Amino acid sequence: MTAMTQTMTGNYTGNYTGNEAAGGLIGPQPAAVLDLRGHLAQHGQLPSLGPHDVVRLARDAGLTGHGGAGFPLWRKLEAVINSGGRAVVVANGAEGEPASAKDRWLLTHRPHLVLDGLQLVARAVRAGDAYLYASERHRGLDHLIAERRAAGIDAVRVERAAAPDRFISGEESAAINSIAGGLAIPSSKPPRVVERGLRGRPTLVSNVETLALLALVARRGPAWFRSAGTADFPGSMLFTVGGAVRHPGVVEAPHGTPLTEVLELAGGPTSRLQAVLLGGYHGSWLTAEEAASAAMSRSDLAAYGASPGAGVVVALAEGVCGLAELSRVMTYLAQESAGQCGPCLNGLPRIAEQVRSLAFDGTDAAVFTELQRLSGLVVGRGACHHPDGSVRFLRTGLRVFADEVAMHLDRRCTRTSDDRVLPVRMVR
Ligand SMILES: Cc1cc2nc3c(=O)[nH]c(=O)nc-3n(C[C@H](O)[C@H](O)[C@H](O)COP(=O)(O)O)c2cc1C
Ligand code: SF4
Repeated sequence: MTAMTQTMTGNYTGNYTGNEAAGGLIGPQPAAVLDLRGHLAQHGQLPSLGPHDVVRLARDAGLTGHGGAGFPLWRKLEAVINSGGRAVVVANGAEGEPASAKDRWLLTHRPHLVLDGLQLVARAVRAGDAYLYASERHRGLDHLIAERRAAGIDAVRVERAAAPDRFISGEESAAINSIAGGLAIPSSKPPRVVERGLRGRPTLVSNVETLALLALVARRGPAWFRSAGTADFPGSMLFTVGGAVRHPGVVEAPHGTPLTEVLELAGGPTSRLQAVLLGGYHGSWLTAEEAASAAMSRSDLAAYGASPGAGVVVALAEGVCGLAELSRVMTYLAQESAGQCGPCLNGLPRIAEQVRSLAFDGTDAAVFTELQRLSGLVVGRGACHHPDGSVRFLRTGLRVFADEVAMHLDRRCTRTSDDRVLPVRMVR
């Protein structure tokens, strides 16, 4: 396996580690780009399934969403069906999170599994329109979509819609606004998109990994899916493992796999770790001691106030300043907000300023107190979860880097490395 490099623009290149026991998204030929012929040779045709069959399969398999929240797919399908009217389905491949590369990997290497899954959910909700919402770098998929259409594989016409490379572009109402020709920013008001989404129609937005897994479940059955993972969260998931590991990249492992094993799939730590970030920039930090005993399931991680989210795992080596990492990412998150609600407009920029002061200026304890106060003010007050997620990232970081905070307040720092570990995109 060749090493994968992580750059500050969040680009990941290289090969990927498959775990055959885990699932089957990565499979025996990790680096292969499966074209239609390769896809059919490896997975075979999709079985002919009616709408109820698809919902039943998703329910029996216990398939949950892989876009971050882990919501059961079958419940979303039923909500769209029960909303009545002509439905729309959207495969969400926006992957606005710079530390995540698993959706990009899927769309590059296993696009037909995603497109199969999109057809299955379209069938389940009797959708007339289907969209693949992904970055412009995936425009080559137009060719695959046309090829499938010409081969008579896709009953429902699929249109690709360009997702801007911004952190919030993948939030489901932002995706819908963007596909409708507006800005890719979240809607500030209900109703839920399953009731009134794209052009007022009931809309199912599912992450591309969720759809790819559905395509495997349709072929191999719910019992196969449940043979890995936990009772609550069966099956496997993709993890984007970055930071201080030998082979940063995308790996696959069952829900509930010990975090240490996930790090080993990426070659293992390159040095002693001080902390691990789970779930990305809306996720949570764990100390190295916590990471040593944590398992990657929602129920296990809940004990640490954490969640696997969309599978981002970043290992932070000793010697890297955790506060500098917090500062860069909080500045990025503040700039990435849509700036349409109070907490994002006023709260996040002020929080980012205080963290910068804590990380880089000689400062006093009042800054730390002010940070706690401001964080409390923004939680639960945005139209979407951007402020809440950003504050979770910060608060768990301040807990895990408490010793570093104390040193900074004493105008010292343990930093021995100038590495910038967490990727952020260039600010426009
Ligand atoms: C700020 C923000 C950004 C998000 N970005 C993405 C994204 O890039 N891709 C994605 O699939 N879901 C993203 N989500 C979650 C979506 O809103 C939605 O829950 C998800 O696409 C549903 O798919 P799932 O049920 O398969 O997980 C984001 C949510 C928030 C609050
Ligand atoms: S909370 Fe922030 S990101 Fe979410 S809709 Fe409001 S301004 Fe936009």
